[in-house]
Amino acid sequence: MEENKVYTMPRIGDKAPEFKAVTTQGEINFPSDYKGSWVILFSHPADFTPVCTSEFMTFATLEKQFNQANCKLVGLSVDGLYSHIAWLRTIKEKIEYKGMKDVEVTFPLIEDITMEVANKYGMVQPGESSTKAVRAVFFIDPKGIIRTIIYYPLSLGRNFDELYRVLIGLQTADEFSVALPADWRPGDDVIVPTAGSCGVAKQRMESKDEMTCHDWFFCTKKLDKEKVLKAILKK
Ligand code: BEZ
Repeated sequence: MEENKVYTMPRIGDKAPEFKAVTTQGEINFPSDYKGSWVILFSHPADFTPVCTSEFMTFATLEKQFNQANCKLVGLSVDGLYSHIAWLRTIKEKIEYKGMKDVEVTFPLIEDITMEVANKYGMVQPGESSTKAVRAVFFIDPKGIIRTIIYYPLSLGRNFDELYRVLIGLQTADEFSVALPADWRPGDDVIVPTAGSCGVAKQRMESKDEMTCHDWFFCTKKLDKEKVLKAILKK
């Protein structure tokens, strides 16, 4: 008797689980084919469904913007390759939505009828559906490490402003060694690492230099939008 495989959900900081898959753009080895790039690996419940169609059209329309931030898109559903191809052809040939039309999806869409990849990434969540992946989003960095995970249910389409904000935010935090406050967007003040000694805490509270300290443990500084975008969009 074959034992049921037990999968653990990947977590932030884990290495992205490896897999080889067939996609609408040919075979991929993940994450090795994407070394050096950020990747957004995202799942959707099923082809030929309305929320997913609105999301795919939006992802495809924004793909260039994500690519400019050194990020590639990879989609997945537990449907088969021919269903994927037929759905993407329908999107291009027939669907007009919110000013988007003639939309060609050129990023790979993984076929995952065995649910092997979906299970490895914890994309099938039986409380929601045992036959469909939820709307999972994994942000994976150029070294293949998972840096952010967001899950949405079947009934709610993703917020693409937020997905782009997360991508730019992760890169900004890395590039400038800062943390980012609630609702941060490029151009907003950033948080400098918390003082690690009494001396530094005192100095920060007393000095009137480039930082604004709300208290010794919470200091912010300016970081120009142009500087952020130049650092991120250059790559
Ligand atoms: C949709 O994408 O519209 C959808 C997919 C699965 C369940 C419910 C909605």
